[in-house]
Amino acid sequence: MKVRWAGGITSLVLVWLAGWTAAETDGVFDEYRAMFGDDNPAVFVIDEGEELWFTRAGPKSATLEQCDLGLGPGIVQGAYAQLPRYFEDVNLVQDLEARLEHCMVTQQGRSSETIHARPYSLRGDLGTEMEALVAWVAEQSRGLPIAPGQSHPEERSAYVLGESLFFFRAGPHDFSCATCHGQEGKRIRLQSLPDLTDHSGAAAAYATWPAYRISQGIVRTMGWRMRDCFRQQRMPELVMGSEASVALQTYLAVNAAGAKMAAPGLKR
Ligand code: HEC
Repeated sequence: MKVRWAGGITSLVLVWLAGWTAAETDGVFDEYRAMFGDDNPAVFVIDEGEELWFTRAGPKSATLEQCDLGLGPGIVQGAYAQLPRYFEDVNLVQDLEARLEHCMVTQQGRSSETIHARPYSLRGDLGTEMEALVAWVAEQSRGLPIAPGQSHPEERSAYVLGESLFFFRAGPHDFSCATCHGQEGKRIRLQSLPDLTDHSGAAAAYATWPAYRISQGIVRTMGWRMRDCFRQQRMPELVMGSEASVALQTYLAVNAAGAKMAAPGLKR
């Protein structure tokens, strides 16, 4: 019930907030979020994600229980906080989505094409398998410090690539990520834009994704956030788990390092 109400309440809050300053709207969104207390509707999605991990799927009829998210096969607790990281078996730096895809392909025998057909929900959808799995895995790192890998040379290159993508101006408006996220106190309409080049801004953002989007009634992942901001930048569609997506997330995770994971968060 609460879930269905959320959209309506959101519209009312948005109308009521028109014309407020950034600091005022932030305060109200904080209060609005507090009204949910510990009742993040993401709990249902987390349960679903856990169930999916243990469900046989694909031509090999296997579960994901042998999937190595970086801490050894089957270890989920604490894995998200240390991603993105380098994986020797693929010789790549991967984020959670790329890694889950790898396990679905190698262990369950599924095809990348089907996994990429619809990794993220469209508006009005009930949530995808990827979103549920990410919600559960991320929740298993709650309270742990963000500690992405940076010891392997590939991990350091991913950071450097992410940083250059962050400042790379392109598209019809010549925007970079930094155009919208390089200074404190900026906002577009009612949304405050965090300064992601700074530790505190990056930490507040990185620690709270994946997140339950109240206005959309679904859990969104950090990969989706990257893709949607790429779209806001009027860039071509960002592919889930791609080098660019992983590099941007590495840049954010390293800037946020040390802060404690608090995902799934609750967002507008
Ligand atoms: C045209 C402006 C614009 C550009 C360019 C842009 N973003 Fe965003 N970004 C936004 C807006 C607006 C939001 C908040 C959306 C909301 O509240 O619904 C946001 C939210 C985010 C968040 C989540 C912040 C939080 O606290 O939850 C992250 C992370 C982010 N953007 C990263 C990026 C990255 C990385 C790029 C470059 C690929 C980028 N953005 C480019 C406008 C932009």
